[in-house]
Amino acid sequence: MDKIYICPSLMCADQLRLYDGIKALEEAGADLLHIDVMDGCFVPNIQLGTSLIEAIRAEFDIPLDFHLMIESPGDKLGFFPIREGDWVSVHYETDRHPARTAAKIAALGAKPLLALDPETPLSVCEDIIDCFEGLLIMTVDPGYAGQKLIPAAVGKIKRARDAFGGGIIIEADGNVSFENAEKMKAAGANALVCGLSSLFSGEYSLKEAAEILRRTI
Ligand code: DX5
Ligand code: ZN
Repeated sequence: MDKIYICPSLMCADQLRLYDGIKALEEAGADLLHIDVMDGCFVPNIQLGTSLIEAIRAEFDIPLDFHLMIESPGDKLGFFPIREGDWVSVHYETDRHPARTAAKIAALGAKPLLALDPETPLSVCEDIIDCFEGLLIMTVDPGYAGQKLIPAAVGKIKRARDAFGGGIIIEADGNVSFENAEKMKAAGANALVCGLSSLFSGEYSLKEAAEILRRTI
């Protein structure tokens, strides 16, 4: 699995100019649009409501990379316009039946990924990893953009790739700077959620930042 998927984090885009931002991300070659959904219960923040997601789905073709930071996601999949080609990450910490939820996501034609908080050990995946197409490994504490990398999370990416092999998606999410992106890829990540420390740092245009990122990895 040589391809590295670039997944810009929509919550990091200019919220008043989202149409232009998504257009620019598509033109810059983004692979999927990372959609952070937060319910204010699992994480102390509320982000990206369903009406916005519906409007994006109606206007753009880019696949969506749903990151559901919500309680009981398996009961709420119907809130979202999930379709074939999307990725849907649900947190192990919020779902009492992750394997059942993975099956529901797969039945929609989307790829189920299991999301793990930094403090959640990989051992929880051992008996259910085969129900998922990959892992979303949080490299910061979930809830906010702009946080600093938890260094141990890079080692967790490597341990996950070593343990589960090359066939699964390993998506790194949090402080994916140009420098960290290189380390995360070297550790085995093949999908990168890009936010305030790379694509949306403000130092470059989205196009320039995407080019730098591609050159870096
Ligand atoms: C945090 C979200 C991330 C975040 C990434 O809970 O899951 O997707 O938006 O933003 P940066 O890259 O700035 O950490
Ligand atoms: Zn995310």
